[in-house]
Amino acid sequence: MSADHEIENLLHEDRHFAPDSEFARQAIAQPALYQQAQADRLSFWANQAKELHWHKPFTQVLDWTNPPFARWFHDGEINISYNCLDRHVEAGNGDRVALYFEGEPGDSREVTYAELTRQVKKAANVLTELGVKAGDRVAIYMPMIPEAIVAMQAVARIGAVHSVIFGGFSAESLSTRIEDAQAKLVITADGGYRKGKASALKPAVDEALSGGKCASVKNVLVVKRTNQDVAWVEGRDIDWSLALGEASDEHVAQPFHAEHPLFILYTSGTTGKPKGILHTTGGYLTQAAYTHKNVFDLHAEQDVYWCTADIGWITGHSYVAYGPLANGASQVIYEGTPETPDWGRWWSIVQKYGVSILYTAPTAIRSFMKMGSQFPNQYNLSTIRVLGSVGEPINPEAWMWYRKVIGGGHAPIVDTWWQTETGAIMISPLPGITTLKPGSAQLPLPGIELKILDDDGNVLGNGHAGLLTITEPWPSMLRGIWGDPERFQDTYWSKFDGIYFAGDGAKFDEDGDLWLLGRVDDVMNVSGHRLSTAEIESALVSHPFVAEAAVVGAKDETTGQAVVAFVILRQSQLESVGSDADVSKILRDHVTKEIGPIARPRTIMVVGELPKTRSGKIMRRLLRDVAEDRPVGDVTTLADTSVMDIISGKIAGGASD
Ligand code: WT7
Repeated sequence: MSADHEIENLLHEDRHFAPDSEFARQAIAQPALYQQAQADRLSFWANQAKELHWHKPFTQVLDWTNPPFARWFHDGEINISYNCLDRHVEAGNGDRVALYFEGEPGDSREVTYAELTRQVKKAANVLTELGVKAGDRVAIYMPMIPEAIVAMQAVARIGAVHSVIFGGFSAESLSTRIEDAQAKLVITADGGYRKGKASALKPAVDEALSGGKCASVKNVLVVKRTNQDVAWVEGRDIDWSLALGEASDEHVAQPFHAEHPLFILYTSGTTGKPKGILHTTGGYLTQAAYTHKNVFDLHAEQDVYWCTADIGWITGHSYVAYGPLANGASQVIYEGTPETPDWGRWWSIVQKYGVSILYTAPTAIRSFMKMGSQFPNQYNLSTIRVLGSVGEPINPEAWMWYRKVIGGGHAPIVDTWWQTETGAIMISPLPGITTLKPGSAQLPLPGIELKILDDDGNVLGNGHAGLLTITEPWPSMLRGIWGDPERFQDTYWSKFDGIYFAGDGAKFDEDGDLWLLGRVDDVMNVSGHRLSTAEIESALVSHPFVAEAAVVGAKDETTGQAVVAFVILRQSQLESVGSDADVSKILRDHVTKEIGPIARPRTIMVVGELPKTRSGKIMRRLLRDVAEDRPVGDVTTLADTSVMDIISGKIAGGASD
């Protein structure tokens, strides 16, 4: 809990922002929501589920007879794509804009619910013609363009299971994930626009499938976005627009069991192997839709909602591809980076589309803060009425800036805590109800039960830091780790029997508001992206120069944490490249190739030894002290206590970007 002592100081935050009474009066979420959930949790969730269209109604809300394997609404039948699309068209809202697409070069497209439904039906027919059946896995590796949403919706519509892989992952990571899920089809694009230029994606797919790897893949469906030159494998590769052009736009959505698998999303754990988090249908959509509507106060007819997350992350699943569409929202999706052509881009988008609800990450907010208010100040942001934050704790300074500069000094900020595993928001203030406190995620949502426990499972009272646990099952909870039920049990359910352990430290303050204190395991959070120390270490040691590696997440002003790697080099290998080789760059490039640019270490420190306990476990805590430039803490459990002096003295050997 490295951030603990810093957050300690913030826990005495005494700024409070009571809800505006007019906002409160019109808010979707009313205080009765808490009472209803309190009175009867399961019937509360049943009522949320009944907001959806069920082909066959459920009769049982929760089956928890075989923990930790929950079944929600399990005898009900539902089609998720029907809920996100057809039903809005049938209700007469086909002309409502579903997607305001803004391409990075400045091109834009409006896609109505009717048109999106038509595209998804065509894509569903194409998938079926390609032999994709219910239960089959489909990998999606795409930029943020409307076709990415069409692809996810179409896969879900036919009961197949998508695995979206973020475009910032390398060919190597892509192929591991395709192999693990045994995907039958890959949907990709030639490339997308990033930082002012076309950035290729298809070559990574070609490489991932090369040399007999990923033999499960029969076809690659390719959207032409940039029209850059791409290699083409006849018989395997299929042009998306040609295929959709020929496909029928008639497709009747079939019902699936509520517990039918919906998607796998890989996330980093404490070992080198990413976990394929499995989500299912009915419970997932119930909580995604309920939270999206209540936490963001969505008034679908008036609001323009924009979540800046990429579909490669869980936020892009629950709060771009599913929740907003289930609620019939009009949303912006933007392809590119915030600084292209300059740091005003996001604010020009807010002005252009009249965005009223904005959901983004603290790391982005801090970057904007650093660049200065002159960028947002050039634009009319007066349409903004709700702001959201996700991915890491938002420091009170960034919170205040966000509210003042982006939210016009009045927009409520909802700091939403959740995880890939939880599927949807779990902890958040409710706008119009909660008196806001900068930096705190405040309260579990109605329907969610949590406790903060000490290591022995004792419940901790206000003012005591401990482990965040969720004590009752919730509808959008993960149903497992793909192909690894044992790891599912061990990782989340073994520390406290029958209780979900989230991996985060937390604390209730004197007022009973919850503060997140960061991860308590070897998982890092860089720009709101989750990275595993072990995964980067194994990438580093796969390079011939590296004998041993230890990776830590060091505090970083903008990105929250930054990847800092300590490496012991193999002198014999180094001699072959000469003494002036830029080892640091070589190793950073190597990690980029193995995992992707998001995992590229900020700093490589070359050391002679690593601090280890007598049982051989690397003491990352001490390395974090060095990486964060603090006096090194207690070293008494080290096998060799002189190691830290040597390492601390060697920091000069480190190199950064
Ligand atoms: C981890 C989950 C949930 C979508 C984005 C990340 C951290 C997330 C907050 C928040 C403090 C937060 C936690 C969590 N986290 N939201 N509002 N305040 N910390 O999803 O990649 O699964 O990461 O992100 O440490 O465990 P993820």
